[in-house]
Amino acid sequence: MKIFIDTANLAEIREAHSWGVIDGVTTNPSLIAKEGRDFIATIHEICELVDGPVSAEVIAQDAPKMVQEGRLLAQVHKNVVVKIPLTFEGLKACSILTKEGIRTNVTLCFQASQALLAAKAGATYISPFIGRLDDLGIDGMDLIRSIVTIYKNDPTLKTQVLAASIRDPLHVVQSAEAGSHVATIPFKVLKQMGVHPLTDKGNAQFLADWQTAPDTDIIGQTSRWLAGRK
Ligand code: E4P
Repeated sequence: MKIFIDTANLAEIREAHSWGVIDGVTTNPSLIAKEGRDFIATIHEICELVDGPVSAEVIAQDAPKMVQEGRLLAQVHKNVVVKIPLTFEGLKACSILTKEGIRTNVTLCFQASQALLAAKAGATYISPFIGRLDDLGIDGMDLIRSIVTIYKNDPTLKTQVLAASIRDPLHVVQSAEAGSHVATIPFKVLKQMGVHPLTDKGNAQFLADWQTAPDTDIIGQTSRWLAGRK
């Protein structure tokens, strides 16, 4: 499963990218507005930083304007994927942009039937929102499983499932188990994914025990040993 980071914050993207785990980035109008910076400059900077799909969302609500915005956004950088809300106008725009070879991420998906329509319209990615469904007492993961099954059952559908609105590491693990192609993950959750108290405890114990070894300098010891073999 690919890992995208769900943020428009460049420091967060830079940090997560330095770990070598980021395949792409998703943004949305709320995330962009939160940064208080120019939309297009931000998207371009993200694209230069991460060589993978970077979702930039249209604001228009009617198909012709969505298409117009989408065409322009796609010219900002080769990495841009045009993000479109899952409305009937959005579906129309998605099918037009797809025919022009522009990649799309159809967002705000809350039921499997919507995902089926998005795939028929040629969406590159479908973004089902797990956390926002969980908030309503509906199991968001069921939606991921259902969409994965529907897409698998029809090999003509090429749309990738992009699990979104992720709130914790369990959402990520369950998305991967369910066969989601991608999960887009907030920086806070990415950090939670990489830590465990037993890792820290074990590491501290190894270091403490190592101090009792006769020679604790690995670089010096190894260099001498390698030089002696020549
Ligand atoms: C997806 O692309 C959205 O940006 C995001 O996952 C929404 O998550 P939220 O429900 O935490 O706002």
